[in-house]
Amino acid sequence: MVVFYFSGTGNSRFVAEHFAKTAGADCYSIEEPLDAAVLLSQEVMVAFCYPVYGSCVAGPMRAFVQARQAELQGKRFVILATQLLFSGNGAQALCALLPGGESNVVYAEHFFMPNNLCNFPMFSVTNGEKNTRKIRRALRKIDRTAAEITRGVVRRRGFHPISILLGKSQSAYWPAIEQRAASDIRVSEDCIRCGLCVRTCPTKNLSMEENGVQQHGKCAVCYRCVNACPKQAITTMIHEKPKQQYHGIS
Ligand SMILES: Cc1cc2nc3c(=O)[nH]c(=O)nc-3n(C[C@H](O)[C@H](O)[C@H](O)COP(=O)(O)O)c2cc1C
Repeated sequence: MVVFYFSGTGNSRFVAEHFAKTAGADCYSIEEPLDAAVLLSQEVMVAFCYPVYGSCVAGPMRAFVQARQAELQGKRFVILATQLLFSGNGAQALCALLPGGESNVVYAEHFFMPNNLCNFPMFSVTNGEKNTRKIRRALRKIDRTAAEITRGVVRRRGFHPISILLGKSQSAYWPAIEQRAASDIRVSEDCIRCGLCVRTCPTKNLSMEENGVQQHGKCAVCYRCVNACPKQAITTMIHEKPKQQYHGIS
């Protein structure tokens, strides 16, 4: 099996890497320069791990899958979706993009992970020890997932019609939000032009110009820069200055 993941702030990387280790699979970030065609030609089972945004698949993972339709023909799929609280059908949402759809998905699971939406007033960010319980629970679920896949158990979390209906209550609005957010980065006067956001942006949406950080309409709202900026000077989607940033899983 080969695992491909996209991770804005580390949660999905954590799940993907632990899953790959437990399942004895190879694991790759889709941000790496990959020869995915070669990797895919050697495997029958392909796992995808990504964060859920508004009950939808994170944009970079959608683009990765859409660009590899031919190579994904005839494969069996495992879907590992990470989320904070609720998506309904965050794992099922990838199905629409996979050749063969639902019938080729052998396992789909949701993993509840720490919050990375650091400027969303409804949810606070927790770091370090405060996330221990959540991470332990996720680790147990990863172990169970790997063991069940090995035993041939089929589980498709998020595929029940009620889950899909509940997911739609969020995902119906997401495409418009995502489109608006693509060019809605704001940089405050606190910016010290360190360039961290430019270097770490997964979509190369940012560049450092004479007049500061500029955007190019490709923000994937992954929140990596919002959580990493040493001056909390950059925001996307919601334009509150983060009270506390998410530092990922150590
Ligand atoms: C723009 C955005 C939208 C999100 N939408 C949801 C959501 O609909 N439901 C949910 O439970 N979590 C949501 N989250 C939380 C993330 O899915 C969750 O924290 C995820 O584990 C982050 O993964 P990462 O660290 O790999 O980027 C959202 C996060 C972001 C940044």
